[in-house]
Amino acid sequence: MDRPRPTTLWHHGLMRPIVIAANWKMHTTPMEAGELAATIARRTRVPGVTRVICPPFVCLAAVRDAVAGEDVAVGAQNVHHELAGAYTGEVSAPMLVGLASWVIVGHSERRRDFGETDVLIGRKLRRAVEHGLRPILCIGEQLAEREAGRAVEVVAGQLRGALAEHDPAELDRAGLVVAYEPVWAIGTGRNARGVDAAEMAEAIRSVAAELGWPEAGASLPVLYGGSVTSANIDEFLTEPAIDGALVGGASLKPDEMAGIVARAGLRVEAATGTLGS
Ligand code: PGA
Repeated sequence: MDRPRPTTLWHHGLMRPIVIAANWKMHTTPMEAGELAATIARRTRVPGVTRVICPPFVCLAAVRDAVAGEDVAVGAQNVHHELAGAYTGEVSAPMLVGLASWVIVGHSERRRDFGETDVLIGRKLRRAVEHGLRPILCIGEQLAEREAGRAVEVVAGQLRGALAEHDPAELDRAGLVVAYEPVWAIGTGRNARGVDAAEMAEAIRSVAAELGWPEAGASLPVLYGGSVTSANIDEFLTEPAIDGALVGGASLKPDEMAGIVARAGLRVEAATGTLGS
């Protein structure tokens, strides 16, 4: 079944959702997570912005309960590529059903620390889609790769590798979101330039188009991630090619999240012509 297309927004230049996703990484206990999620949900009620909170696995239930009744989605930070088996310490897609509706796959910290490859990430994507979990696929180059002028080539390769075994129409229906996260910008306080992130977002859509994505890739949401704060989010939100952010460190701070989502709300208002109404 096709997702309904926001046709009225399309004509105002906002054919894709604006998403602010919080990646809490290995922070918060279940009790802290519930309280933090409730506070963030209350302080980020902005029409038109899709809000997602991705806490550690053990906090998913607490966050789900804390945001019940709010229009906030809950996401996991990872998923195993098998359904079940002798994989000590791992969590599979069927286990996440009922706890999360989104899932991050291929985060650079998992590529770096756990040796996740594009092929493995592609298999994780499959599990997510099969279980109705909306995937946020993370891709991004290393600093040396950018300095060597190879950023687009590397990111395009990651995307092709992860999507190789997939039907683009199926991923489109599953609502795949790509997060472009240059590795050198993650947790470093050094963010990419908006124009460079936008160029990469367009390159990502060109690869999607090449792979046969519906609407020549135009329906694929691309987020920016890497040291996003309320002070620099506009750099990205002013780029029409970028559809929001995957926020790490700043997403643990309610003031920051309130600021970031408010700015995203202004982008939605500007694009839909509801500013001031
Ligand atoms: P950061 O993390 O905002 O702390 O740089 C982003 C991410 O890793 O998703």
